[in-house]
Order: sequence, then structure tokens, then C-alpha cells
Amino acid sequence: MEKLVSSWSSNQHLPEDYVFPVEQRPGEETTIPVCKAIPIIDLEKASHGRKDIIQQIIDASQKFGFFQVINHGVSGVLVHETMSVVKEFFTMDDAEKASVYSDDHTKSCRLHTSSPNYDTEKSHFWRDYLRHPCHPVEDFIHLWPEKPATYRDIVGRYSVEVRNLSLRILDLISEGLGLEPGFFQGELSNDLLMSTNYYPPCPDPSLSLGLPKHSDPNLITLLLQEEIYGLQVYLDGQWLGVEPLSNAFVVNIGHQLQIVSNEKFRSVEHRAITNSREARTTIASFISPCNSCIVEPAKALVNEANPPLYRAFEYQEFLKSYVAKAGKKETALQAYKIEVKHH
Ligand code: OGA
Ligand code: NI
Repeated sequence: MEKLVSSWSSNQHLPEDYVFPVEQRPGEETTIPVCKAIPIIDLEKASHGRKDIIQQIIDASQKFGFFQVINHGVSGVLVHETMSVVKEFFTMDDAEKASVYSDDHTKSCRLHTSSPNYDTEKSHFWRDYLRHPCHPVEDFIHLWPEKPATYRDIVGRYSVEVRNLSLRILDLISEGLGLEPGFFQGELSNDLLMSTNYYPPCPDPSLSLGLPKHSDPNLITLLLQEEIYGLQVYLDGQWLGVEPLSNAFVVNIGHQLQIVSNEKFRSVEHRAITNSREARTTIASFISPCNSCIVEPAKALVNEANPPLYRAFEYQEFLKSYVAKAGKKETALQAYKIEVKHH
């Protein structure tokens, strides 16, 4: 428990093992303004119609690998209750959090600090995180925190709604890509892992990171954040700030969707910076293939002119190598790439 950043960090200097190497530090970039170009897509705008919404999602997934959705159908009350109960969890006394804390990174539900590579990484991430599977709820709810008393009920309902929204977005994507209806339903989107991140106020945001540059390994991610800036996207050699909107979901393309789309979409790298004023809480819902799912570029998207850029593999094989490579994009994908021969 003494590892939790939240349990020791107030009124402390930044410890050496939380200082990132110069080339990874945000430095002055902690103050870059939010980028208004990252699309905010209204899923209910009747005047636009389904075709237009699909086009906006496809364009954003190609260009940015990121977009936000508003009027997304997940109840505003539930979104608010979920953020509140998660914040309440992180601000409880250590003793009340002890039952879910673990140094064993193979445990499916656990509270810890930094990353699964805590014991071997050079620099720790300035965050505590609680991670657990969510689907189907009844298989996993007994592993979730018992306190706050409403956690299981609220997060249970939230995870069902977020999963439904994800499947809805995936249906729009499959239609936009010209894939058969329901293409992503089933094994490719079977698992839902929820990771709640708590970034305490940090004594030196220019030297540290809540999450260093990474792409998500899964299919697609829906992130809920408060109206506190912290998420940055690395696009064409430049960091862009994502506008914090408390009633929107930030949607980003994971490695599996880059692979299945045969690189029509990009799993764009991103990071979380810290700030010295206030704690920031985010809730990431990772929609993932099941472990035994065979992933490969969609057959309908490959032909002689567009050969497959990746070989087929089992998702659990990918995940293992992803964690070992600490999330770095090029090395995480390398082993699965097919060399394209130029004539
Ligand atoms: C993640 C992530 C960003 C944030 O959990 O993979 O990128 O702002 N989170 O918490
Ligand atoms: Ni991420």
C-alpha cells in the first residue's frame, strides 16, 4: 500500500524514480492549448442523419485515431454517479482500499500504482489505478471493491451502458468500412476491461507523466474524464491537447482496430500529463477481443492491390508481447507485420 502515489505524495518533492528521461518529459508542453480540430461528434443530430455520422467517425478514425462523442445515450446521471463513486474510492483511507490492493500483476482485479511493469520500469507513472474485467458483469462483480457501498451497483450499470455504446459505435464503423453488419460483434469485442486512473496533484508536472506515450492494445477505448485537462495525442510529430468534456466520451482506436482495418485506421499514441493544482480522475473502458480470438485484417478489406499488412494471431499472444514491450507502438506491432514486397 505504501506504493500508492496518493498515500505519500502530498507536500513531497518529486522522487527520482518518478522523473522521466529528458526525451520523454513533457517540459513546456504541459501548457499546450487544447486542439479544436479533434472532432466532437453528436450521435443524435437528426439533421445530419446516420450516413453523415458514419462519415464523421470514419474521417476522425483515419485522420486522428481519436474523436469525442456527445449525446451518446448513456444517462448523464449515471455518468455523474460513476465518476463520483470512483473518486470516492480513490479518496478513501488506505485501510479501506487494502482488500483490492495487490503487488501481483496477474490478478484480474487490482489496485496499484504506475503500471504492470512497476518492478522493472525505469520511471514510475504518476498515477494509482484500479483495473478489473466487467463483462459479463455477473462473472466478475464479486471481485470488485465492496466499498464505497454503491460501487458495484453503479459501476455494474455503467459498464453495461458503455459496452452498448461501444457496440453501437463499432456497428457504425463496420458500416462505414463496408464490412458485413455485426462484423465486430462476438469474439472481437467480447471483453470489457475497466481501468480507473487517479492522478494526484504532482509537485513537478514538467518532469513527470501520469501515463507515458502509448497506444492502446485493444480494439477500441472509451474514456470518461472530468473537466480537467490532461490527455494529449501525438499526431504527425506534435502533441495536441484533448478538450476535457465531462459528459462526453473520448473514443480512440486501439491496435486491433488498426490491424483489422488493415491500417485504414490508426491507433494513435497518446499520454496523460499531470498538474500541480488538483487530482484528475479518468475512467477508461477497453473493449477487447477475448484471449483466444484470432485477429487478422478483415477479408473484405484486402485484395491484390491492398495486401494484408498483418498476419493472423491469437489476441493473448499479442497482449503478452505488448506488456513486455511496455506499450511502445512500433515494437508492439512489429512481430505481426507482413513485409510488403514491392515489384
Ligand atoms: C489509458 C489512457 C488517458 C487518461 O488509460 O490508456 O490513455 O487521460 N488514459 O487517463
Ligand atoms: Ni491509452
